[in-house]
Amino acid sequence: MATAIVTGANRGIGLELTRQLITRGDTVFAVCRKASPPLAATGANVVAGIDVTDDESISRLADSLDGDAIDLLINNAGILSHESLDDLDLERIRRQLEVNALGPLRVTAAVLPKLRRGAKVALVTSRMGSIADNSSGGSYGYRMSKAALNMAGVSLARDLADRGIAVAILHPGYVRTGMTGGQGLVGAEESAAGLLARIDALTMESSGSFWHANGEPLPW
Ligand SMILES: NC(=O)c1ccc[n+]([C@@H]2O[C@H](COP(=O)([O-])OP(=O)(O)OC[C@H]3O[C@@H](n4cnc5c(N)ncnc54)[C@H](OP(=O)(O)O)[C@@H]3O)[C@@H](O)[C@H]2O)c1
Repeated sequence: MATAIVTGANRGIGLELTRQLITRGDTVFAVCRKASPPLAATGANVVAGIDVTDDESISRLADSLDGDAIDLLINNAGILSHESLDDLDLERIRRQLEVNALGPLRVTAAVLPKLRRGAKVALVTSRMGSIADNSSGGSYGYRMSKAALNMAGVSLARDLADRGIAVAILHPGYVRTGMTGGQGLVGAEESAAGLLARIDALTMESSGSFWHANGEPLPW
């Protein structure tokens, strides 16, 4: 039985990750801004009122874990908006950088003292952050923020190797959630199952590599 932290746990992929971890017998600290009835029904330890962009709330999260050694941190919380060159809303771009790139780094650094040797850190990124895969342009804030997250993931893999902590950089697929307006190729259940399979398969040797939840390696 492992102890895990999942951010963005109140809905979408994070809710489903929480549900599946609980089902397999793990203890989950389910981190969210605002709890939801389906999250409460999972039986997770809900840690509400936590915004990944806010230093004070992240130190509250670290304090709330007092005494618990963490085996798995899944940085899942994220936002998406689309900006084209004709509609370059820099405030929205800045916000995505703050939530999608700095948020996971801030959470990981704060939780690090609680991660036991052999723990795993997963970053839920997007293939839209792949430079090699960018054939359609646009979506400046999302693409830039997820590319930055990918780079943070590789640095984390290097920096945490001495502590025996492995890092997974994972694309969940095109998933039917609020983020996509219910559009997508897979449901949150299938995506979460794939993400957990990739995390289970993660080793120190594969730390810092970029995978699709379906098991395909992805290009940077
Ligand atoms: N769905 C897809 O097709 C897809 C594809 C590629 C990557 N992803 C990535 O997968 C992850 C989960 O996405 P999803 O599809 O499940 O999206 P979602 O249904 O929109 O859920 C996003 C989650 O992130 C939380 N969140 C947003 N801003 C936050 C903040 N400042 N502080 C704390 N929590 C915050 C939301 O909380 P609130 O309820 O409080 O807003 C919500 O729990 C994201 O990182 C996303 O970029 C999704």
